[in-house]
Amino acid sequence: MFDQLSLNILDIGMNSLAAGATVLRITVIENAEHDWLVIRIRDNGHGMDQKTLPEILARNASTKASRKKPIGLGLALLRQTSEMCGGAFHVHSALGEGTGVTASMRASHVDRPPLGDLNATIFALCAANPTVDIQLNCESNGEKFHFSSQEGKYNEPRRTQEAQRQGTATGLAA
Ligand SMILES: Nc1ncnc2c1ncn2[C@@H]1O[C@H](COP(=O)(O)OP(=O)(O)OP(=O)(O)O)[C@@H](O)[C@H]1O
Ligand SMILES: [Mg+2]
Repeated sequence: MFDQLSLNILDIGMNSLAAGATVLRITVIENAEHDWLVIRIRDNGHGMDQKTLPEILARNASTKASRKKPIGLGLALLRQTSEMCGGAFHVHSALGEGTGVTASMRASHVDRPPLGDLNATIFALCAANPTVDIQLNCESNGEKFHFSSQEGKYNEPRRTQEAQRQGTATGLAA
């Protein structure tokens, strides 16, 4: 388990960059009144097909070529944290369209890690690929904050690498 949720978010965000996303949207919603914390990470990368996704979730599988054993930790660790803290974990994905990961947890649960340094996570993701539009939406008890690393830089909608190759425009689908 990571001791900061921002490190879980970094790992899941790196999955999106590895999947060729050009838009990565991270949403963090905290609500003290209802006692929940929700983290959503969506991308427009190459996605996973309907056979691969359940296999990855069932076996904590990894497709990283660098792995000696094909075990991945990013999704498994966030799932473990969210389920241990009274929440739910869900991944949806469509091939060629993108992936969305949602993790909820009880905000006041004794085992819930702190959010940690979200700014450092966003900075690391931007540094890892400066051309990707890294977006952060935070909502804490009604107060909202939005950041986009590419805001004002492009007038065109951002497109997936595959779409750029094919010359078609694709938005965030997952
Ligand atoms: N956003 C995504 N788009 C496409 N495939 C994904 C995405 N996220 C995860 N995957 C697939 O799921 C696998 C498991 O992801 P996970 O983060 O659990 O482990 P990993 O990235 O392989 O390794 P680790 O996170 O431990 O470095 C990845 O290897 C990849 O095949
Ligand atoms: Mg990973």
